[in-house]
Amino acid sequence: MGMIVVASANGRVGIGRAMEILRAGGSALDAVEAGTRLVEDNLEDSSVGTGGLPNLLGDVELDASIMEGKGLRSGAVAGVKGYPNPISIARRVMTDLPHVLLVGAGAERFARESGFHTAELLTEASRQVWESRLAGVLPGWATPADVRYFDEMRKWSQLATDPEKAGGTVNFLAKDRDGTIASAVSTSGWAWKYPGRAGDSPIIGAGNYCDNRYGAAACTGRGEMAIRAATARSVVLYMKLGMSLAEALAEAMRDLEALEDPFWGRMNIVALDRDGNPAAASNYPDTTYIYQTDGMDRYAEEPRLVVTRNGQG
Ligand code: GLY
Repeated sequence: MGMIVVASANGRVGIGRAMEILRAGGSALDAVEAGTRLVEDNLEDSSVGTGGLPNLLGDVELDASIMEGKGLRSGAVAGVKGYPNPISIARRVMTDLPHVLLVGAGAERFARESGFHTAELLTEASRQVWESRLAGVLPGWATPADVRYFDEMRKWSQLATDPEKAGGTVNFLAKDRDGTIASAVSTSGWAWKYPGRAGDSPIIGAGNYCDNRYGAAACTGRGEMAIRAATARSVVLYMKLGMSLAEALAEAMRDLEALEDPFWGRMNIVALDRDGNPAAASNYPDTTYIYQTDGMDRYAEEPRLVVTRNGQG
């Protein structure tokens, strides 16, 4: 298998550009960053970048991470407000700092120092969705000790487990001409999340992992589950231990069954093996992913392997 880009289905707006970059001799890192940026800039996507649904207080907080499978270099940001392309900030964390993850005000300070531009991330459409559900429900002075606050948060958190209302995240994986694999994940996170909540997307090993020697994986869905089970790293580790890509995906899904979680929900994984073969899995039926090789004019959309909660494939 030669060059390839794999993405979650909402990566449609970026996969063509990512492949163009690979064909022009660009790196897998360049490809996954560029593809992700186009999703971050897609106002119609209410789960990533500008237009993402906000937290409980109406602020859009973005998380992203990027990783290169040669040398396991990685960078990530969490809880970033006001910067529309967190994936590019994550890449600069990887290249310019001796750190992996910056959060909140520190990440925004670094973005400003690095010359990134700010923008209003809350679109009118997302503001209206938020307002119709949350404005006026929570007093501005509420503290975590406020019982009503927590009651409302639980109520709205449950609402947000409805995928139509909670949205998703975007994943990009790519393998370039040199055989290097890169992976990128970006999200506005769980709609109506508690301010400051970070999901799996900025956590290397949870929502994103790649290693040229074995392959790559990235997740969308309920991030708390992928954090607790180290899902992306697990897929890659299972391949290292000799499982096929499909077996590794199924085993990582089965790992989630041990989690006690009142909000137990969707988990979707896209993955590549070290030879550049793609696959994806979900614990819900009827979900798809996309991929494009350098020999294809257009991306293909394929069903994900379904691994339901009781382990039936
Ligand atoms: N998987 C994205 C999130 O939970 O924030």
